[in-house]
Amino acid sequence: MLMQIISLIMSYLIGSISFSVLLAKMLKGIDIRQHGSGNAGATNTLRILGKGPAIVVLCLDVLKGIIAVWLGKWLGGDAAWIPALCGIAAIIGHNWPLYFHFRGGKGVATTIGVLVTLSFFPALIAGIIAILSIVITRYVSLGSLIFVALTPVVMLLLGGYPWPTFWCSLIIVIFVVFRHRTNIVKIVQHRENKIGSGGSSKG
Ligand code: G3P
Repeated sequence: MLMQIISLIMSYLIGSISFSVLLAKMLKGIDIRQHGSGNAGATNTLRILGKGPAIVVLCLDVLKGIIAVWLGKWLGGDAAWIPALCGIAAIIGHNWPLYFHFRGGKGVATTIGVLVTLSFFPALIAGIIAILSIVITRYVSLGSLIFVALTPVVMLLLGGYPWPTFWCSLIIVIFVVFRHRTNIVKIVQHRENKIGSGGSSKG
């Protein structure tokens, strides 16, 4: 039990490392949360810092999710819930980081790491559809929502995944939809930033 609690706390602390905030500070001396959409994530890093830093942020944020799930597998013993809960703890850390006044990102890259590690094929199929939607609409936020919403659906269709993984993926859907509530309103109103358009409205 103690090791399981430690794995959850460690996952939150790992998730709390906000790479977009750190990189923007290092490269430009700015707080990325004051620029572009105000989001501490890879998409806003692309807007403000460019492709290279955005790829670095994306990879490191995905890695946080992968590490958290493996930490849960390693320290969680036989409990199937722990790897999935560690993934959620990392996403909570990314969204509400301890080291950065609890103002973080929307958790999508970390969610990718978590879902790919917990359920590779559902995440892969959902990811391909999400990427296609981004290519067609140029809305990264829409692609993010499609990815998280589709992964549990594909999990059910393929079958064979542990119930804790499925239920935790539904909890993750709630987190991501909640963090994208402003994006959703803007998509409906056709005011959402399109990738590559240099948009900068907050949200
Ligand atoms: O991963 C975040 C993305 O879905 C939206 O980011 O900066 O356009 O709000 P942003």
